[in-house]
Amino acid sequence: MYQRFQELMNKIADLNYAAAVLMWDQETYMPIKGEKYRSQQIATLSGLSHDLFTSKEMLEMIEVLRSDESINSTQKLNVLETAKVLDKKKKLSTAFVIEMSKTVSNTFSSWQNAKQTNDTDSYLTQLEKLVLLKRQEADMLGFTNHPYDALIDEYEPGMTVAELDALFSEVKIKMTELLVKINKTPQVNDDCLRQHFDKEKQWKLGLELLKRMGYDFDAGRQDISSHPFTTSFSPQDVRVTTRIAENDIANMIWSCIHEGGHALYEQGLPEDQYGLPAAEAVSLGVHESQSRLWENNVGRQLPFWMANYPFLQKTFPEQLSKISLSDFYKAMNKVEPSLIRTESDEITYHFHIIIRYEIEKKLIEGSLKVKDVKQAWNSMYKDYMGIDIVDDRNGMLQDVHWSHGSFGYFPTYSLGSFYAAQYFAKACQDIPELESEIEKGNNQLLLDWLRKNIHTHGKRYSASELCNLITGENLSLDFFMKYANKKYGDIYGF
Ligand code: CO
Repeated sequence: MYQRFQELMNKIADLNYAAAVLMWDQETYMPIKGEKYRSQQIATLSGLSHDLFTSKEMLEMIEVLRSDESINSTQKLNVLETAKVLDKKKKLSTAFVIEMSKTVSNTFSSWQNAKQTNDTDSYLTQLEKLVLLKRQEADMLGFTNHPYDALIDEYEPGMTVAELDALFSEVKIKMTELLVKINKTPQVNDDCLRQHFDKEKQWKLGLELLKRMGYDFDAGRQDISSHPFTTSFSPQDVRVTTRIAENDIANMIWSCIHEGGHALYEQGLPEDQYGLPAAEAVSLGVHESQSRLWENNVGRQLPFWMANYPFLQKTFPEQLSKISLSDFYKAMNKVEPSLIRTESDEITYHFHIIIRYEIEKKLIEGSLKVKDVKQAWNSMYKDYMGIDIVDDRNGMLQDVHWSHGSFGYFPTYSLGSFYAAQYFAKACQDIPELESEIEKGNNQLLLDWLRKNIHTHGKRYSASELCNLITGENLSLDFFMKYANKKYGDIYGF
């Protein structure tokens, strides 16, 4: 029977990945008029996949297989993880799912409209309906301590408000201390990154960086889109996109390395488990740990640029030949409170996340009204970073997440950074020559380590089990703070 289960799961995956190809095309090459039938095409495939997944045959098979003692441990994992998803689906009525999908789609259009017109009030009226449904969803899914726990579970299984509250209160104290120290010293100059950098040359540079990281171009490709993303159709076809700003080379370089990190994870998932949980990522937090590790712990560090800066200078001699590696390094690590999350530095980034986390947690528990979100947002930006919001487009309207109904998603970004620091510290401990090899341009040792310790496991372990297995302890902020204090102490001289 397991074989039939696997066949069915493969069919479902085929439909989902075919829909993913259409979505990838929508963001990259589709002509504007293609929009008319594209949403319908994607919806048809998703509907077919949903029908197969919730079919009587599947439900009956799962009931038998979940107590089948003859299947091996990987098969057991696939059955139990699938059962978990199905149990969750069963808790939401069809009427509720339809209502949710309509409300999400209306809220998304209202958000798009608000971004154009700055009409925040109509957006908030719409968002209120969505928040009400999300609160109902949390109740239907069930939780022990906090309704938000039920929603986080979708993105970071096992994570709870209790754990996040403890973590983020520590983050707030320690990052504020670090920021105060940084603010007392003269600011670094990052003008060298904001010169004119030819588009075509940047494109080639991005491809070269991906190649040097170990990204397999026979199992993927890079294209341009307005928001960079990674998407996978199997470990043998993992696509990345980037964007290029001619007046800011930082934009392309670090988003390219970031997506490259996500893609290396996807390319390293076990191919023989195609379509099954054993070939899926652990969680969004762990996925983000892979992108952040490459972007920050590798890509914003000296060893990596000792290997790659000469090539960069050769590509842009006019702009960079007179800029020393040390100045380039400082420029890429400038810390400064700013309005936009996606453009912020490694330290203030976490304030952007904490603000969103606190707001959405309160919305879901009902202690903050949707109409007061703007005021809460603006006052927290002032309190945490000393920033005045003059325009909601650069304030509470900047992210798409809430209008998509993604409540519980934001914390995974911060978790990713902290997991990354902890994993990278362990990799350096396991491989003493790791950084000196990266300095020589050899990134293979790191990639091999990530493949062996993280990628090949798929969903075999939960995020916290994996962390304990690899590092011998729970997720701890200490690794990130140690890394950040050393790095910014050197750069800012304290
Ligand atoms: Co990411």
